[in-house]
Amino acid sequence: MGVSIMTQTMKHLLTIEQLSADEIHEVLALARAMKAGRGKTAKHLPLTGKTWGLIFTKASTRTRVSFEVGIRELGGWPLYLSANDIQLGRGETVADTARVLSRYLHGVIIRTFAQEDVEEFAACGSIPVINALTDDEHPCQILADLYTIEEKLGGLKGKRITFVGDGDCNVARSWIFGAAKMNMPLTIAAPHGYQPRPSLLARAGGEVSVTDDIHAAAKGADVLYTDVWVSMGKESESLDRLRILAPYQLNAAVVSQAKPGALVMHCLPAYRGKEISAELLDARQQDIFDQAENRLHAQKAILTLLAKV
Ligand code: CP
Ligand code: NVA
Repeated sequence: MGVSIMTQTMKHLLTIEQLSADEIHEVLALARAMKAGRGKTAKHLPLTGKTWGLIFTKASTRTRVSFEVGIRELGGWPLYLSANDIQLGRGETVADTARVLSRYLHGVIIRTFAQEDVEEFAACGSIPVINALTDDEHPCQILADLYTIEEKLGGLKGKRITFVGDGDCNVARSWIFGAAKMNMPLTIAAPHGYQPRPSLLARAGGEVSVTDDIHAAAKGADVLYTDVWVSMGKESESLDRLRILAPYQLNAAVVSQAKPGALVMHCLPAYRGKEISAELLDARQQDIFDQAENRLHAQKAILTLLAKV
């Protein structure tokens, strides 16, 4: 690998917003190499002798397991720390936790509620920090998704993405920045109250449009994407969300509006019969579970780039 763009500029992965298109391309190229090289004898294990912590205050299947496996495959050790098991859960500050853990660990992966907590950890500690999902962004997901689209559709530029459902959730927000940076037109189909804020759209730039007409939004799409209607932390709003978002299900009727051969994507976990019909999820499971697998390859790329800093 040549000189890393990410190594020159990035110490952390906190948001898609803070990445450049060149940095994203670098992650995707390395993810491709990681996927091709998996299981073959590695000449270079960039995490050898290093321990990376995972501090999670929310549940996770894909992110936790793919990071733990990825760290091991790169020669390092993962250390899972549920926030409730460390003093952070009893009121020790994020800043002090960052200062202490920087003396032991070589990097940290954080899943939590407030984006500010991840930013504060990065500012107060001295080790690389990866955002493994906050209420604001899910950058690891979108990097893996971009890689999946490139892999399956042969490129990114100009590919039309339609996001259906809760247009103001973390995954949708990261998509807004990711699509704008990669020159991909993005349409968000969501009911009023679940649409992204105009200030966020203005910040992202790019070609992003928002509508409450799901069928119009699906027309001509290369990719149809959805996420859960009730994100972690929003459980008290479940009844309203399930009622208001019900007309925004991704199903065969919506897919029939998209380009022939359009890719159906879901970051998972999926709730069959809610944000996606059971029939569509089952029909497209090969692509959707490839998308989940690609989390591993993309995150190994991210770890490799940040371990060099
Ligand atoms: N897509 C995703 O981040 O899944 P987990 O919540 O299982 O990590
Ligand atoms: N928007 C979802 C993503 C889960 C991976 C949540 O935050 O729960």
